Amino acid sequence: MSNMPELGFGQATPELVLDRLPVQGSLPDWLHGTLLRNGPGTFRVGQQQYRHWFDGLAMLHKFSFGPGRVSYANKFLATKSYQEAQATGRIAYSEFATDPCRSLFGRVMAVFSPQITDSAKVSLARLAGQFLALAETPIQVAFDPETLETVGVFNYEPGLVGQMTTVHPHFDEAHDTAYNLVTRYHRISHYRIYSVRPGRDNQRLAQIPTKQPAYMHSFGMSQNHFILTEFPLVVNPLNLLLWLRPYIENFRWQPQRGTPFWVINRHTGQLVGRFDSDPFFAFHHVNAFEEGNELVVDLVAYPDASIVNAYYLNRLHDPQAELPFGQLRRYRLPLGGGRARYELLSEACMELPRFDYERYNTNSQYRYVYAVSVNPQQRQGFYNQLVKVDARTGRVQTWHETDCYPGEPVFVGSPGRVAEDDGVILSVVLDAGQGTSFLLVLDAQSFAERARATLPHPVLFGYHGDYFPAEPLLPR
Ligand SMILES: [Fe+2]
Repeated sequence: MSNMPELGFGQATPELVLDRLPVQGSLPDWLHGTLLRNGPGTFRVGQQQYRHWFDGLAMLHKFSFGPGRVSYANKFLATKSYQEAQATGRIAYSEFATDPCRSLFGRVMAVFSPQITDSAKVSLARLAGQFLALAETPIQVAFDPETLETVGVFNYEPGLVGQMTTVHPHFDEAHDTAYNLVTRYHRISHYRIYSVRPGRDNQRLAQIPTKQPAYMHSFGMSQNHFILTEFPLVVNPLNLLLWLRPYIENFRWQPQRGTPFWVINRHTGQLVGRFDSDPFFAFHHVNAFEEGNELVVDLVAYPDASIVNAYYLNRLHDPQAELPFGQLRRYRLPLGGGRARYELLSEACMELPRFDYERYNTNSQYRYVYAVSVNPQQRQGFYNQLVKVDARTGRVQTWHETDCYPGEPVFVGSPGRVAEDDGVILSVVLDAGQGTSFLLVLDAQSFAERARATLPHPVLFGYHGDYFPAEPLLPR
């Protein structure tokens, strides 16, 4: 019986700094840079357990590549949530699906001042010249990419209660402006798009009012449009402001609402229109682009929001449990008016999708999407393979190894490449048979293994990260 659930959803691993990991195979000689990853560093504090994959205390991981070698370091983000957990041995802050145990008095107090986590563990980005650990709470934590030390906190708007954001900002073509969605909860709530530029105040570009805001983990951006895909997993904002139960458990699935796409002109902030579709749910948008008079939106879709419940840790610890499959859909929005319709680009199960963002976002020429996946012959458990899907032909390439559980595949293009997929895929893989993790390096074209660098410990299942080329990571 595989020990996967305990290894991937268990307790903290030690903080390490390792100058050189053992490497099998050969690393590309052009790979000089750093893969930074974020995710939960523990699902346990003292005797207490978090409840959901999206809970936990943030830990950063860093893999730096030099000629033929890989170094590694990992460190907990030094947030108040972490420090209080360390000091008291108890969970002190509210997470996605976990609230701290409170006395009745504490519960009443929480109405006025919910202690929302500052443990920004979902993703990371270089925004406005800073490296930030990102969370859906608008508390973004700056860190030093060399030492992984925590250096400060960054907000979209003053005040923390009553707003949520996404961990998937978009970047403009010059990569100097970032855009993100913030949902502000009130009697009438608003979806707001912000721009963030170095040296400037954050600017609100657009807003859409709503009475029942949706849970949106990401949004779309094309050359000329922002796309808010309003999944019918919605909340009465009063319930969220009262915070009587953990964040996500305030949301309800209301399929009768369908899933409308709200399209905003990226340059003017004006609403272009609303395009209705049948109900579906997604965490992740992939690419979006304009083609003729249509707006094309690719995303990893589910028929409903049951995937959110499938990620509760008691389900993930059940060796018989099966994850609902996310699948790559291509929605077409007729900009002249009408309903959105979609085609399925692949039957493969997909989640944590990545593509060559630098080169192909906003461009219809892109073809390849990389993702974690479930092997159809081995459906029980967790994501146990990587896939590469050709969005043009539907061809699927797979990397799979018995009792191995790969994380988000990050594409790194080779310098001066012509082919879109000329490069490598980097993925942190839990090897449940060995009880440790390794960094897998795949050739992105053939999807064959080029190298692996082995860690001395298992890494808990994380979410997102990114690769940064070897330029000095911070100005010196
Ligand atoms: Fe995500």
